[in-house]
Amino acid sequence: MALSTSHMPDAIANVSKYPDYYAAWRSDPEAYWRKAAETIDWIKPFDQVFDPQIGPFGVWFPGGVMNTSANCLDRHVDHGAGDRIAIIWDSAMEGRIERYTYRALRDRVAKVAGALAARGIAKGDRVVIYMPMVPEAAIAMLACARLGAIHSVVFGGFAAPELAARIDAARPKLIIAASCGLEPGRIVAYKPILDDAIARATHKPARCLIFQRTAAPATMIAGRDEGYLEAEAAATPHDPVPVAATDPLYVLYTSGTTGKPKGIVRDNGGHAVALAASIPLIFDVHSGQGAASEVMWTASDVGWVVGHSYIVYGPLLAGVTTLMYEGKPVGTPDAGAFWRVCAEHHVKTLFTAPTALRAIKQQDSEGKLLAPYNLSKLEALFLAGERCDPPTAKWIAALLEKPVIDNWWQTETGWPISARFRGLGLTVFKPGSGGRPCPGYDVQVLDESGQPNPPGEVGALVIRLPLPPGCAPTLWQDDAGYRRAYLEAYPGWYCTGDAGMVDADGDVWVMGRTDDIINVAGHRLSTGAMEEVLASHPDVAECAVIGKPDAIKGEVPLGLVVLKSGVNRDHATIQKELVKLVRECIGPVAAFKDALVVPRLPKTRSGKILRATMRQMAGGANPVVPPTIEDAAVLDQIAALLKVTSHIA
Ligand code: COA
Ligand code: AMP
Repeated sequence: MALSTSHMPDAIANVSKYPDYYAAWRSDPEAYWRKAAETIDWIKPFDQVFDPQIGPFGVWFPGGVMNTSANCLDRHVDHGAGDRIAIIWDSAMEGRIERYTYRALRDRVAKVAGALAARGIAKGDRVVIYMPMVPEAAIAMLACARLGAIHSVVFGGFAAPELAARIDAARPKLIIAASCGLEPGRIVAYKPILDDAIARATHKPARCLIFQRTAAPATMIAGRDEGYLEAEAAATPHDPVPVAATDPLYVLYTSGTTGKPKGIVRDNGGHAVALAASIPLIFDVHSGQGAASEVMWTASDVGWVVGHSYIVYGPLLAGVTTLMYEGKPVGTPDAGAFWRVCAEHHVKTLFTAPTALRAIKQQDSEGKLLAPYNLSKLEALFLAGERCDPPTAKWIAALLEKPVIDNWWQTETGWPISARFRGLGLTVFKPGSGGRPCPGYDVQVLDESGQPNPPGEVGALVIRLPLPPGCAPTLWQDDAGYRRAYLEAYPGWYCTGDAGMVDADGDVWVMGRTDDIINVAGHRLSTGAMEEVLASHPDVAECAVIGKPDAIKGEVPLGLVVLKSGVNRDHATIQKELVKLVRECIGPVAAFKDALVVPRLPKTRSGKILRATMRQMAGGANPVVPPTIEDAAVLDQIAALLKVTSHIA
């Protein structure tokens, strides 16, 4: 089956080639991926499409040698697309727009790679990147890829202790950071956070390259810090370094169920093949000849997987134009910001998180701020990061009069597990559903004993092994941890940690997590990490953090704390201290604003805290109370505090 890059005239018709296409993958997965791999330039062809003997479940394209940066940049320049726009940077924060052609981007990346090499960075070394949404962040990522160095991007909304934890986990030789990020109404000085993080970390990087922004230039530490742009200007361009397809391209730390983040590893070869294939198949975005290209805008952040895959690597591998936006959906300056950007840059596909739409809807439900813009070039809206609630999906579909494509995935998979496929002709729009499994994923729903559930019945969403190319083959230096986290619950299957169902048509419905991860404004957060922070407060005896529904952010964390006996300080003061502590230890991104002092926490007789029961109560639902509850009266106390009635059977 060829992955056609030509525009399909029936792309928006309700007649999809999806069933045949998916069936072709199922009947011969190796042939499917061998064909897909033809879209990538290989320095040495792979020996095998897949080797199940290596790693927790196998590796893709062993023996293959390539370079991801060369596939993103040099390949297009060499094929006559040097003048095509690779990146449009639109900063609503700075009121500035910049455009980089593929040639200009290749040249900057080669120079930054040269600067890194001159500072001792070579294949396999780690580089932490802590930057806001500026082109220099993407350039830094691609420069690492050019050398075969492994980047680990840390989202700017994380505080120093979280950055320190990631520095200690990745042990980078060098860190690339910006002096500051720009949030509405405030400048976030990144450099003091970086200095604090390095002071806290056991591992000390030898060098830091600092991208100075005029809004808040940073003070440099002599002998360690250097200017990013100065280092780039003085550097000799570096050629792409051949790497094994199975070598890591990056590590991206994401929340797990414990306080310790998981280092998700992405390889080079499988990642390039999967992402390059996904652009025509799912997004239906194409380059033309020479300088012509369509524009793809992913309104996320390079610190998240969606940003890695569809701001940076995916569009560049496919040779299309990607748009990087520094701003918010609302407040920069108003709820028309997204429509202004789409119209001004002729965006063909917009990809964002449902939370951004809820923020827009709250301020402009009638679309008055959309009306002035010509959105004739915009063909589809893609949504991921959290489940899109049906009212929001229907509202935006009606307002835009364009297809809305919810797609389900996670940091671990690196590209959608399920979606609708513009390159094949869309399947039916079902608001609330994440669409059909992408070729490469056999998605099933299992019950607690590991037996398949019939269509329509909710259970654990799992994927039959092996996972397709592009998915994390392991955790950073932790094969055993990978097996424990994902493979042991249901042997032969990858456990996504999501609960949901597959309906009779084969559409996947993701209903929520089966663990204690919460999704706040499209950001994946660990309640375990927040509990560790609350527990470190000297007055707290025990605590629980649960997700509570929020009209804009989907859910927000709520801390419930029991104070140590004898503590008689004012509760309001303690609550403020707890909120401040989470902001300082995890970061503003945790959006932790609510801590409740409770007399006791509900537990089972074996001492397990009933987080799920409290979560249901906080959401106003009828809670499921396990028969093993130690003292059901505790729930009434909690309910009173939550100001909802508990309906205990
Ligand atoms: N650097 C520093 N601080 C940051 C930051 C960054 N890169 N990103 C967010 N923050 C801060 C915010 O300023 C805010 O601080 P505050 O508590 O002082 O107000 C805090 O972190 C919480 O941020 P957020 O939850 O994002 O709320 P918000 O009010 O700033 O924005 C939305 C709300 C809905 C507009 C925003 O969350 C959004 O666009 N989300 C989309 C998420 C996304 O792209 N997910 C990826 C999957 S597609
Ligand atoms: P992250 O690793 O940050 O991308 O978060 C992954 C988690 O976000 C998934 O395991 C889901 O719980 C949730 N998620 C992402 N996309 C969707 C979607 N389209 N529908 C429902 N949940 C989603």
